[in-house]
Amino acid sequence: MSQSRKQPWPYPEVVAHRGGGALAPENTLAGFREGARYGYRAAECDVKLSADSVCFLLHDDTLERTSNGQGPARAWTMAELAQLDAGGWKGAAFAGEPLPTLANVAAWCRAQGVSLNIEIKPCPGREEETGRRVAEEAARLWAGAQTPPLLSSFDAAALRAARDAAPDLPRAFLCEAIPADWRETLEALDCVALHCDHATLTEAQAGEIKAAGYQLLCYTVNDLARAKTLRGWGVDSVCTDRIDQLAAQRPLAAQP
Ligand code: G3P
Ligand code: MG
Repeated sequence: MSQSRKQPWPYPEVVAHRGGGALAPENTLAGFREGARYGYRAAECDVKLSADSVCFLLHDDTLERTSNGQGPARAWTMAELAQLDAGGWKGAAFAGEPLPTLANVAAWCRAQGVSLNIEIKPCPGREEETGRRVAEEAARLWAGAQTPPLLSSFDAAALRAARDAAPDLPRAFLCEAIPADWRETLEALDCVALHCDHATLTEAQAGEIKAAGYQLLCYTVNDLARAKTLRGWGVDSVCTDRIDQLAAQRPLAAQP
């Protein structure tokens, strides 16, 4: 058994998706602040590389949906990206909210005591480079932290590069439906956890994954009853857009 599988899971039962779920612009510090306002002690975010290889937060390959920029994010330098408005699309109250760097988010998370699941979300063709850079940066930015950031990705090449760059940081393999070869994949990438779409998970699969010694996180769970069911199956954490529906301060099982 890999050494990492024996480590305890230091992350809360509920994790705010893309910073602050659906209540604020995704992947911005305004979102993280909203999560904290609701008592969330953990968040997920998507990280990729600028043209000059700075790690920054963005979900899509392109800028249009969540900022006033245009075209592929990989064509913009961080200095250019930093000028964009990544909040106005969500409402006037968020206008002017910048695209944060991973360093901005690390500083905020460490100051607030919020743990982070960093989803490595490479632009096409930059998978290994992104995995390596994100892991190097995360190791540097969270040096000495009590709770390390959890690195996850749908992309095996990115996770492999992350493992080689920062072997001590915990990793999770992301998938929609759980693949038949999940054991081999987790073993090969030396992952501590599997993250899957909750809609595809069966109770039997959850039992097998837990019995194999892995942690299990489900996204994107926006319904309290479903979150409680998953928790009952042994799911360790759920990632949610509805930080107003899943309370952070009480165990899921104890919520009405
Ligand atoms: O990490 C869980 C979830 O964020 C994966 O899907 O598309 O929301 O990044 P997506
Ligand atoms: Mg994500």
